[in-house]
Amino acid sequence: MAFLWISLLVFLGSGSGCHHRICHCSDRVFICQENKVTEIPSDIPRNAVELRFVLTKLQVIPRGAFSGFGDLEKIEISQNDALEVIEADVFSNLPKLHEIRIEKANNLVLIDPEAFWNLPSLQYLLISNTGIKHLPAVYKIQSLQKVLLDIQDNINIRTIERNSFAGLSSESVILWLNKNGIQEIQNQAFNGTQLDELNLSDNINLEDLPNDIFQGANGPVILDISRTRIHSLPSDGLKNLKKLKARSAYNFKTLPNLEKFAKLVEANLTYPSHCCAFANWRRQAFELHPLCNKSFVRQDSDDLAMDWGHRRRSMEEEYVSSLDKGLDITETEFDYDLCNEVVDVACSPKPDAFNPCEDIMGYNFLRVLIWFISILSIMGNIVVLVILIASQYKLTVPRFLMCNLAFADLCIGVYLLLIASVDIHTKSQYHNYAIDWQTGAGCDAAGFFAVFASELSVYTLTAITLERWHTITYAMQLDRKVRLRHAASIMLIGWIFAFSVALLPIFGVSSYMKDLQDANQQKSSQ
Ligand SMILES: *[C@@H]1O[C@H](CO)[C@@H](O)[C@H](O)[C@H]1NC(C)=O
Ligand SMILES: *[C@@H]1O[C@H](CO)[C@@H](O)[C@H](O)[C@H]1NC(C)=O
Ligand SMILES: *[C@@H]1O[C@H](CO)[C@@H](O)[C@H](O)[C@H]1NC(C)=O
Repeated sequence: MAFLWISLLVFLGSGSGCHHRICHCSDRVFICQENKVTEIPSDIPRNAVELRFVLTKLQVIPRGAFSGFGDLEKIEISQNDALEVIEADVFSNLPKLHEIRIEKANNLVLIDPEAFWNLPSLQYLLISNTGIKHLPAVYKIQSLQKVLLDIQDNINIRTIERNSFAGLSSESVILWLNKNGIQEIQNQAFNGTQLDELNLSDNINLEDLPNDIFQGANGPVILDISRTRIHSLPSDGLKNLKKLKARSAYNFKTLPNLEKFAKLVEANLTYPSHCCAFANWRRQAFELHPLCNKSFVRQDSDDLAMDWGHRRRSMEEEYVSSLDKGLDITETEFDYDLCNEVVDVACSPKPDAFNPCEDIMGYNFLRVLIWFISILSIMGNIVVLVILIASQYKLTVPRFLMCNLAFADLCIGVYLLLIASVDIHTKSQYHNYAIDWQTGAGCDAAGFFAVFASELSVYTLTAITLERWHTITYAMQLDRKVRLRHAASIMLIGWIFAFSVALLPIFGVSSYMKDLQDANQQKSSQ
């Protein structure tokens, strides 16, 4: 009897719009947060504006589960361990739906390619922490709004195929694809989109962005490749880029030709030497703003007697903010004088004492001089060596010491030649080579040569001086004459000394410097 009464009450309750047997409902928000729920209740009020299924035991969201919910604005499906499949037509023909959240469903492996259909108001679609292997098919969504597609933490998504986002929206789209298992992005992946932002950060296995990846897309305006293994940017499709972020992208060592970054205003990168490139790169504002191109025609034809300077100050702020927001000011209010301003790229991390910006040789004068000196020194010392060794006279102690000195100076010449050729090789592109050079074997070799040769040279000079002093002081005492074997053992010590001193930086001190540098980088990235 009591059971009947309760059933009747429940029946009356659901009839009034917002009571339910198992789930909770208030103010047209319907919340199923209940272990017992294993299928979607059939009696959810059709006028609900929000549905939430949290911590349920749903396994399947069946075909048409939400059809007929004309007022529905939000759907949240989160923390459902048991969920495995979302069938076709689940999110279809819902004219007011603007937000879908599907998250924390590790066993969700399949979202039917026909699951999303005709959602003209959609603005936000989240799919995160699931087991799906492919991006959801979004081509039938056809939203009329700007859409943020937020697909994060799906470690089984490996590939982004071509045309993956076409049809998502007729407006612009923002794609957050962070922390998935993405390894490959195909050419034309973003075909047919107006791409405001593409965030690929934390796809730690992603190495390559193919050259035609942005073909058919308008954008991206903002690109983030932080913490990926991407080594270079595609050569096409960077012309709309305003903001580039690549923090801790250690493989990204080579910047593309800067001319490709026609609109870049902000770069947040990994290596300070890349900022050197931007620091030396000046663009006139007219290259950035489409209206500026027309200005020259106008200034020529119209005899503009306007006082540009007066209007400038207020317009300047407007212009800069228009660059930031991507808005265009209309032609009549635009201050054409601004087109002659110079625009800098705000770049970080800034170069510092450890990573200075200078080319190996900043001045052309030094450039010529170092070639001259190194070649002269190599040739001169070779001549000296040949003469000393090949002469028919007996090898005396002074001659032997001179041989050593010539050899040491020859090494200095070789060192200078090495530096000069690195300089030629990296001329004006030093920022792109600095990283490999500073961390590579070439730098160690050059350092070794420099230290070894200069130590040996100084040591030999000292030895020569002492020998001269000894010879003069004891000129009369033949028994105290310096013999060749004495000189040889003294020089042997000299060689060992110079060699060890030169090895020190390679093993000890240079790794110490690298530690310091790493610490520095970490500090600046925090
Ligand atoms: C790119 O998208 C357009 C429609 O936006 C389509 O017509 C074209 O076939 C697509 N290109 C490729 C290579 O798929
Ligand atoms: C990209 O996503 C990461 C992680 O969510 C975030 O920290 C970063 O700011 C985003 N990048 C941009 C350019 O917004
Ligand atoms: C670059 O990114 C770091 C950390 O994400 C931030 O602190 C810094 O302000 C950014 N720099 C610029 C110029 O945006």
